[in-house]
Parts: sequence; structure tokens; C-alpha cells
Amino acid sequence: MSNKLIIANWKMNPASVEVAKEIITEINKESKHFGDVNLVVCPPFVYLNEVASVISNSKKIVLGAQDVFVGEGVSHTGEVGIKLLKKAGVEYVLIGHSERRELLDTDQIVKEKMIGALKEGFKVILCVGEKERNEHGDHYHEIKKQIEDAITKLPKKYIKNLIIAYEPVWAVGRTESEAIKPDQLHEISIFIKRLVSDICGPKEVDKIKILYGGSVTKNNAKEIFEKGNVDGLLVGRESLKVKNFTELIKQIKG
Ligand code: 13P
Repeated sequence: MSNKLIIANWKMNPASVEVAKEIITEINKESKHFGDVNLVVCPPFVYLNEVASVISNSKKIVLGAQDVFVGEGVSHTGEVGIKLLKKAGVEYVLIGHSERRELLDTDQIVKEKMIGALKEGFKVILCVGEKERNEHGDHYHEIKKQIEDAITKLPKKYIKNLIIAYEPVWAVGRTESEAIKPDQLHEISIFIKRLVSDICGPKEVDKIKILYGGSVTKNNAKEIFEKGNVDGLLVGRESLKVKNFTELIKQIKG
């Protein structure tokens, strides 16, 4: 059994680098109790170096970025490209988060970023998820299109570095009781696995980890993880509350 994976997406938090250092230092201290869980912390770009210095010797925690720019050259004001992320020690990149898709990341851009990052040896967390659900089950089409657009014709050699995070937009940033129900997640995870198997071939599907994100807390994580048939979780707000977050990780470890 491969390790479980938790991604901490800090978004634009915390408000200062001092607090970011405090949080990661505390999490790092607890990481000896993480068992078979590996943690990826994705801080804002401006805190990458400080977070990297705290976890530099960790066997349990690695660094992730919340986005990446994959164009050629260096004349791209405001962007953070692959080489800069590599130098900062980043190993994982979140791509296609719904908050990025809402701004300007189309399926085409998501694909370009994904391929660009995979080519450079990053592990990519491809985020997908519907905006809302209706009685016609249109969310299946939305998820299918996002995944098809990203991974159709993806060279097989990259598949082992691809992780799919299912984050329904309606469950992000809500209360813990509004997170997905484990049986709904179980259905989606089977759906995604079938789809990946159809697109990439049945041998490839076991190489891809599937994660869930959206209002995960220490109180709902265990049930979502165990009954939802996923390999890990993508956690936003709760990942900044050290006590809750380390408890969450300990709950899902083997
Ligand atoms: P919350 O856990 O705060 O709902 O955020 C989820 C998310 O968007 C993680 O990428």
C-alpha cells in the first residue's frame, strides 16, 4: 500500500511570514507521529523559502506551490515560473484549483500548465470539480470534461506523477457539515477511476492517487477518507490550525 497524501493549501494565509514559520514549525514537530501519511504544504509564493528552511530535513513534509507559470523566457511580469519554483525546493504543484479556474485558467491553460510541470519532474495535483449539482447529474459531464481535456493523450510516463483532487466548488469554504457525504464521494471516486482507465488504460489507473477537498476538518476527515474511497485529502482552512490539523492527520494514518 502506498502512502496516504494530505495537501495543505494555505491559499493567501497566514497574514505574516512569522506566523507561517510558527505554523510549519509546530506541524514539523508533530510529523514524527504522521505514520504512513505524507504531507505537502502549499504556502503563498512569498513564504516558500521560509517554509522550505523549516522542513528541509523532513522525511514527511515536502513543499508545494499553488500554481505555476509554464511559458518560455523570463519576461512575464507577475508570474512565477518553473525554474523559480524548483530553486525554492518545490516538488508538487496544484493546477486548476477552482479559485484559479474562476480567474482565468481555462481547461486549455490547465492542460498546458500540467504538461509543462510534469515535463520538469514536478508532481501535479490536478484539481477538478463541478460548480453545483442538479437532479440531472450534470456534474458528471463537468468532471468528465475537465479530466478528459487534461489527460487525453498524456504520455504514460507522466501518469505516476499525477494526482487528481476532486474538489466540488459547492463544498469549498463551507461548514464541515456541508462537505461531501462519504457515499457521494465513493461514487465520484469510482467514476474518476473508470474514466482514467478508459482514457489511459486499465493498468495506469492504480498509479493515480485520488484526493478529496472541500470543508475537511478534524471532525469529518476520517469518515470522508475511509468511506469515500480516496487516497488522501486537500485541506484549506483547517490546515492553518495546527492542533486540529495534526489531529486530522493522526486520525487518518494507518
Ligand atoms: P477549505 O478546506 O477551506 O474548504 O478549502 C478547500 C480548498 O479549496 C483546498 O484546496
